[in-house]
Amino acid sequence: MRKIVLAGNWKMFKTQAESEDFLKGFLPTLEDTPFGREVILCVPFTDLNVISRNLHGSRIQLGAQNVHWADNGAYTGEISGEMLTEVGVRYVIIGHSERRQYFGETDETVNLRLRAAQRHGLTPILCVGETKQQRDAGEAEALISKQIKEDLVDIDQSNLIIAYEPIWAIGTGDTCEAKEANHIIGNIRSQLTNPDVPIQYGGSVKPNNIDEIMAQPEIDGVLVGGASLEPESFARIVNYQ
Ligand code: PGA
Repeated sequence: MRKIVLAGNWKMFKTQAESEDFLKGFLPTLEDTPFGREVILCVPFTDLNVISRNLHGSRIQLGAQNVHWADNGAYTGEISGEMLTEVGVRYVIIGHSERRQYFGETDETVNLRLRAAQRHGLTPILCVGETKQQRDAGEAEALISKQIKEDLVDIDQSNLIIAYEPIWAIGTGDTCEAKEANHIIGNIRSQLTNPDVPIQYGGSVKPNNIDEIMAQPEIDGVLVGGASLEPESFARIVNYQ
């Protein structure tokens, strides 16, 4: 059975005070959320502790947005697996296109980070996806296959989530057609040794398109940026019909 996983990616948004406000609005909306839906908030490092302390036994799971491959060391600006698990983190986004694009992340470093996450008992959410240029040139599927192949070398597929995030759909309001995302996600699944890995779609997921996205048979959840910042919109997504 594939798990349904609904994750928010706050990116570099929200101070600790703002995260507490978010929780006040969001926690009550989870009372009607059907069982079997995993709800994750991937928040800035400085918000992890405050969220962890304010979950009050709720079903929200805590996620981070990066982890370094070393257990410790002279890596200014990085964070280790143990530092994350100590504050209750269970999930970590790895290889987000913004990390690949702006911070020089490569398939090799993504693979190292995935290994480190699993070594520390964290479940990685591996992001893959193509640019507009690559899509227009007909290179999307080959590029995604290459990312999957290289990123997943020696990775345990029983403790993994993948997010297909076409870069041209991130933060643009330009969603990938649900059927097209379903097709690409089916292709990704055919490359895996474990067909039960949950595969999410990400890129301009909003309250007005969540029902159609989640109706697709290959799509097991969503990774949500902008629409996870407001309690009402993220609640509508988590409580999709
Ligand atoms: P978006 O971001 O929902 O704002 O498009 C998605 C993501 O980057 O994970």
